[in-house]
Amino acid sequence: MDSLWTGRWRGLTLKIERRRVRDGGGPTLRVLAPEATGAAREWLRFDAFERQPRWHFDPEGEDEIRPLDERVDPIAEAFDRLTQEASSLLERAGAPKALVRTAASPDPSEAVVLRDAQRAMRHRPARLDELDPVRLRSRRSEKWHTYPADVLPAWVAEMDFPPAAAILDELRRFVEGGDVGYPLGLRETGLPDAFCERMDERFGWAPDVRRVEVLSEVVQGMYVALEAFTEPGDGVIVQTPIYPPFLGSVRDMKRKLIENRMRLENGRLEFDLGALEAAITPKSRLVFFCNPHNPSGRVHTRTELERVGALAVAHDLIVVSDEIHADLIYDGREHIPFATLSPEIAARTVTLTSASKAFNIPGLRTAIAHFGDDALQRRFNTALHRHIRGGIGLFGIYATMAAWRWAQPWLDEVVPYLAGNRDFVAERLAEQLPEVTFLRPEATYLSWIDCRGLELEGPPAAHFMRNGQVALSEGGLFGPGWEGFVRLNLGTSRPILAEVVDRMAKAVGR
Ligand SMILES: Cc1ncc(COP(=O)(O)O)c(C=O)c1O
Repeated sequence: MDSLWTGRWRGLTLKIERRRVRDGGGPTLRVLAPEATGAAREWLRFDAFERQPRWHFDPEGEDEIRPLDERVDPIAEAFDRLTQEASSLLERAGAPKALVRTAASPDPSEAVVLRDAQRAMRHRPARLDELDPVRLRSRRSEKWHTYPADVLPAWVAEMDFPPAAAILDELRRFVEGGDVGYPLGLRETGLPDAFCERMDERFGWAPDVRRVEVLSEVVQGMYVALEAFTEPGDGVIVQTPIYPPFLGSVRDMKRKLIENRMRLENGRLEFDLGALEAAITPKSRLVFFCNPHNPSGRVHTRTELERVGALAVAHDLIVVSDEIHADLIYDGREHIPFATLSPEIAARTVTLTSASKAFNIPGLRTAIAHFGDDALQRRFNTALHRHIRGGIGLFGIYATMAAWRWAQPWLDEVVPYLAGNRDFVAERLAEQLPEVTFLRPEATYLSWIDCRGLELEGPPAAHFMRNGQVALSEGGLFGPGWEGFVRLNLGTSRPILAEVVDRMAKAVGR
């Protein structure tokens, strides 16, 4: 038996444990209360096992056993029964009257206790170091399927870890139930509410649920924003180097790219806000902002954000803030949503985000746009008919909700592991390829590496691919002037990362 979580709820003690029994076992919710003797008595127990899930009424007395329905969601059923029936069951079992009374009265702060209990119950350890190369090779995702089998991919931004158990179990329920019909209306699915709860929990931001739109991807949001808020020829400001679709969308939509190049100082990329101000012209309409920033891995400070916000207000610019990496921050740094800076700044901010990066479900194609102002939302929604934007699949909607509601314990394992990967790669590169500069990311599982010291001919990513059979992202795609860099994806196991660095070293004859 492993003890996973303990908390207090309506005068009772809730304990989540993982129990092993002869035919399997799984997560258990035990409901206890102290006796006059000081010992704890168990009144209810919910065994949400994979096989024959069941619940026990008065396990220390009558011990009546009833089934939980394994065809649906035994954990959800356990919590429903607990919240709806605890008091009457305690009464039937002869529990003290005071206990029966408190168990009947919801406590205003109990939502957090029940959420954490449910998170603990839905969690299974992530086993990050144990990726199976054969399974990875058989994946049909872009990362593992673009190059021949002898190439080790460390490029496109997805992680190799399987998603959280809470997400996989949710998807399994859809598959096993043949539940692949049309989704409900997006608002009715609960996803906009789940987004607002998540932003509040993580960043202390309370978005307005009526100003939430669901998209298929963050990149779609970029294109629709350009269509809605700018005209061909209008200026769009971007901090480079940058995730390539920021550049591609501006180019495709025939807007004018205003580059705000970051400065490389002492092996660290700095945002150049002085140059940003100087670059703004009367034709500038929009700032594409990326925080945390891909590929530098930098996190904007409050001072930097406020400067960008002040410029946006002064020059009447709309800010499209891509915050997709906000959950992947290291070393106790803080993510500050752009829309929280001030009401004036919020009113010109469109926030784009998704659970897809942090929870590793990019193939499920679901993202969120939040508008700080009704008029912005209206313009966005009328720029293209909703059928041109297309629909969102059930899997993405519900996997996103499972991620935000239940998968935090998984993320709590993944983020420190990624920070360890960053340090591991920094060390190994320093040993094996001292000519390159590894720009230590503060956030994201992406790392930006200055390879100019190797003095290679042509793009370094092509060299590493040709001579080391390792696929990295080519720096030049992230903006002009960054051709001597590569982006390396740290979102994999340490044994695979060791192999990535070995291959890079081999490619330059080490
Ligand atoms: C900053 C940033 N925005 C957006 C995306 C892609 O998001 P989506 O797949 O939702 O378009 C990525 C993927 O790497 C990213 O790094």
